[in-house]
Amino acid sequence: MAGDQSKVVRGFSSKVSPLTAGLLEADSRTLPDGLKQVGNYLPPTKKIPLSRYFDPAFAELERERLWKKTWQYACREEDIPEVGDRYRYDVGPLSWFIVRSAPGEIRAFNNTCLHRGTRLCDSHGWSGSIRCPFHAWEWNLDGSLKNIPSRWDFPQVGNEQYKLPEAKVATWGGFVFINPDPQAGPLEPALGVMPAHFKSWEPENRFTAFHLRKLVRANWKTTMEAFLESYHVVETHPESLGFTGDASTQYDIWEDGQGHISRLITPSAIPSPHLGDEASIEQAANMAFQAFALAMPGVPVPKFDPTSKLSARGQVAQWRRQMMGAGLARDFSDWSDATMIDSIEYYMFPNFCPWYGDGLPLVYQFLPYGDNPDESVMSVRLTAPLPGGGAPRPPSAPIRQLGFDEPFNTAPEIGLLSMIFDQDMSNLPKVQVGMKAAAPDQAFATFGRYQEQRIQHFHEVLEKKLGL
Ligand code: FES
Ligand SMILES: [Fe+2]
Repeated sequence: MAGDQSKVVRGFSSKVSPLTAGLLEADSRTLPDGLKQVGNYLPPTKKIPLSRYFDPAFAELERERLWKKTWQYACREEDIPEVGDRYRYDVGPLSWFIVRSAPGEIRAFNNTCLHRGTRLCDSHGWSGSIRCPFHAWEWNLDGSLKNIPSRWDFPQVGNEQYKLPEAKVATWGGFVFINPDPQAGPLEPALGVMPAHFKSWEPENRFTAFHLRKLVRANWKTTMEAFLESYHVVETHPESLGFTGDASTQYDIWEDGQGHISRLITPSAIPSPHLGDEASIEQAANMAFQAFALAMPGVPVPKFDPTSKLSARGQVAQWRRQMMGAGLARDFSDWSDATMIDSIEYYMFPNFCPWYGDGLPLVYQFLPYGDNPDESVMSVRLTAPLPGGGAPRPPSAPIRQLGFDEPFNTAPEIGLLSMIFDQDMSNLPKVQVGMKAAAPDQAFATFGRYQEQRIQHFHEVLEKKLGL
């Protein structure tokens, strides 16, 4: 355990808005094991040079020592349900494509033709073989060479040497990970506490309800770090303060040298501690009811019941259990209040943010875009539990591409969440240009001891990975 944890102030509360730990204790249900656990690590405070967010040499170092050498989240299994389905996964100028190569088998190939270098997979889709559009060199789905037109002209080409190069592939919870390093060990240690924490929630038994891929004019780290803390909520998302415990958020890190996992739990249906000791719990509940109702148009929106034995959070969670249970023909009666309504976001180094619970069941992925360190891609998915009653698995939603100048509010499927994302997006290009204009003796980032510890931890792991 690094850092003196006893001196750290663990958030800010008010009379009506206790810290997350107190809210979890008051949950109307037994908490799942993961929510009972707290982190085991606090990184030491260290300034971070801003140049690493825009220096092309740093981006090159990341490509060589990070992206080519790390287990990373590529896609979900449901993106490639049939044998022959493929999904393109780009990390800046690096590119692989993930293929369902046989029933129960997934492979990841370098996205480069072994003839003269053409990109083999342009878009997600299906085909019975892997065929280059230029001269039609062709491979089987297992990567073995199938055909070379005018083969008589390539006496130097042996089948064994011209198999498509592969990255390692492993899956967990319906997520597909790749590691391009041939020496890589198994995925499992990199997942750290996540399999244990997510077990009862069954991420494998969910489907993608929407999937957006947004281009951002900011480095991938700039973009990602905007989603690893709730410190910015009071300034950037003031509309949510009435029902969001931003400052009472709990942050945890689990570090064991191989798994680098962190988490935040931002409670819902309580007022922000910033609103003071007199803030209205009733209003917090009503705003939470309304926020959750936005995803269910036409459903009558309940009101806080001051005569109920349940707390405000308990009332909102109970209504969520009923609505989700009826909508999906499943039983959520044991699920904790926190699982039903809170914002619980995990992070696995380097690019993967799966949210836990049905308060906000998102999945984020952050990646460099092209070879410009000032640009990135953020993928946002929403997953939903598979319906019960023997209903078939719904198909994965298609990807909606949002360009640099297309805001989230051009994607109708995400409803009012778009306002939140567009607020976040509005900051990012300003951060990216501002960093470049820093005075030379102040050209570093300074992180909050508690609320920004996940970002601090990320940089600590990154520095180790890059050998700095
Ligand atoms: S470059 Fe692919 S077949 Fe020629
Ligand atoms: Fe935000």
